[in-house]
Amino acid sequence: MARILITSALPYINGIKHLGNLVGSQLPADLYARYMRARGHEVMFICATDEHGTPAELAAAKAGEPVAEYCARMHGVQKRLADGFGLSFDHFGRSSSARNHALTQHFAGRLAEAGLIEEVEETQVFSPDDGRFLPDRYIEGTCPACGYERARGDQCENCTKQLTPRELVNPRSAISGATNLELRATKHLYLRQSALKDRLDAWIDSQKGWPILTTSIAKKWLHDGDGLQDRGITRDLDWGVPVKRGDAPWPGMEGKVFYVWFDAPIEYISATAEWADAQGLDDAAWRRWWRTDEGAGDVRYVQFMGKDNVPFHTLSFPATLMGSGEPWKMVDYIKSFNYLTYDGGQFSTSQGRGVFMDHALELLPGDYWRWWLLSHAPETGDSEFTWENFQASVNKDLADVLGNFVSRVTKFCAARFGPQVPAGGDYGALEHVVADELAGKLAAYARHMEAMEVRKAAAELRAIWVLGNEYLQEAAPWSTIKSDEAAAEAQVRFALNLMRIYAVISRPFLPEASGRIMVALACADWSWPVAPARALEALPVGHAFEVPEMLFRKITDEERAAWAERFAGVRA
Ligand code: MF3
Ligand code: ZN
Repeated sequence: MARILITSALPYINGIKHLGNLVGSQLPADLYARYMRARGHEVMFICATDEHGTPAELAAAKAGEPVAEYCARMHGVQKRLADGFGLSFDHFGRSSSARNHALTQHFAGRLAEAGLIEEVEETQVFSPDDGRFLPDRYIEGTCPACGYERARGDQCENCTKQLTPRELVNPRSAISGATNLELRATKHLYLRQSALKDRLDAWIDSQKGWPILTTSIAKKWLHDGDGLQDRGITRDLDWGVPVKRGDAPWPGMEGKVFYVWFDAPIEYISATAEWADAQGLDDAAWRRWWRTDEGAGDVRYVQFMGKDNVPFHTLSFPATLMGSGEPWKMVDYIKSFNYLTYDGGQFSTSQGRGVFMDHALELLPGDYWRWWLLSHAPETGDSEFTWENFQASVNKDLADVLGNFVSRVTKFCAARFGPQVPAGGDYGALEHVVADELAGKLAAYARHMEAMEVRKAAAELRAIWVLGNEYLQEAAPWSTIKSDEAAAEAQVRFALNLMRIYAVISRPFLPEASGRIMVALACADWSWPVAPARALEALPVGHAFEVPEMLFRKITDEERAAWAERFAGVRA
C-alpha cells in the first residue's frame, strides 16, 4: 500500500467554472484519486478555492457584496457543484483560511531569512481613470514574444510566456480600456528565483519520466533569454494575505498583500492542515503528508493542472519550497492538460460562452459529463466539445453499451429465474475465454490508470463493457434456455458477476451509476478484480438482487438541438 498525495489546481473563486476548467484539473485528479483508493492505497486528495487577487475583488464589487462575503458564498456554490460532479476531495479548502495566512507569512519569513527576498523600490502602473494601481493581470496589450493582442501583464495566454506589464506592447487598462497609464513609486518584495536557478534546473533534471509538455515549458523559462526572472510577490490590494515576516510586521509593507500566485499553491499544504483541523486531528496528521522529516518521505505527490499553470508549479512554487530551507515534500509528477474548445471556438468565462458546471448539472447528472469529458480529455492536444459528439458518446457508450448490458442481464434473469443469482453448473469454455480476455484488458486498464493516460483508460474500460455485450450475444442465454436450462443459468450467473466487476472498475469514471449497480446487486464488495476468474464467482448462487432503474437515458435529437442553441451565446 502506497501513500499518494494528489492536488488539483485551485479554481479561482470569481464565478462558476466551465467544463474546460473542470476537465483540465479537478476531474482527472478525481479519477486518479478514486482509482488509487479503489486499489487500496492511502490517498490524500486536496483542492480549494483560489480566493485572492484582483479578480476576486472585482467580481465581488460587481455582485455588490463585500469581498469576504462574496468569497464565502462562492466557495459554497463551488463546493455544491463539485459534489454534483462527484469530486471526492478529502478536503476542499479556501486560500483565504487562517491556516493559509499563517503559512504564507511563514514561508515569506523563511525566504527573507535565507536572503531570497529583495525589497525593490519601483514604479508601478497607475491608472488615473480607474483611480488605482493596476495589478499585472489587469493590464492588457500585445505579447512581445508571439504578437497575441490580448496578452495579460502576468502571462500570455497564447504562448504561455510569463510577462511583466512593462514588456507588453500598447498596454491598456483591462478594467476600463484606458491607455492613459502612468507610473508611480511604490515598494514591493521580489522572490529571487534567479538565485535558485541552478537548484531548480538540477531538480527538474532529476525528475524522470515527466511529460515533454511539462519539462519543455519549465526549461524554456529557465534558459530562454536572460533566464529565470525574479518575481514580485506583493501587490497593492486590500484583499489577500497581509505582508508579514512570519509573525512579525514587515516595515514599509503596511497595507500590502502577497500576490495571489504566491499564496495559492501554499494553500495545497494549508488545505491539508484545514482537513486535519476539520477532522479534529493534530498537526502531525497533515505534516506526515508534507514534511519529509515527519513521514512524507514515502509519499508520492502528483499534481493536476492546465498547461498555463505549469510554470508556476515547476518553478515558482518549487522555488518557495526549496528556498525555505525546510524539508517540504516536492511534487513527483505533474499531469498537465491542453485546452477544451467549445463548438469551434473557445470556452470563455468573460464572454459566458460554452457550458458551465451549474448548467451542465441542470441538463444531466454528473456521470454523463464525467464520461464525455474524461474520454475526450485534452491530453495530447486540444479537444473539442460538440453537442453531436456528446450525444453520440452518451447514447452509444453509456446507454447502448453499459446501460444495455445491465438492463438485459437483470431483466432476463428476473423474468426467467427470479431475482437471485441462479445456480447452473460450472462455467464453460466460452466463459473461460471471456475471463482470459477480461484479465488482459483489466491489466491494460490498470496500466493506463497508473500512467494517468486518461483517454486510453476510458477506451479500455469501454472495450471491457463491449466484451460483456459480445459475450451475451454469443452465449445467448435466451436461446440456451430452450435446450439446456442449467447452462443458461450459468451464463446469467457469469453475466451478473461481470456486472459487479463493471461497477467496481467503472467507479472512478462513473461513481454514481456504479453505486446504483451495486445497490441493485445488494452488494458491498468493492474489491478490485485482481484475479478476474475469482472475481467472476464473487456473487454467490442464491444472492438476491433487484432490477435497477434505467442506468442512463438517451439524449434526443430535439434536446441536442435545443441545448446547442441555448449555449451558443452569452451566459445569462
Ligand atoms: N486559480 C489558478 C487558475 O485557475 C490555479 C491556481 S493553482 C495553485 O489558473 F497552485 F496556485 F493553487
Ligand atoms: Zn505570447
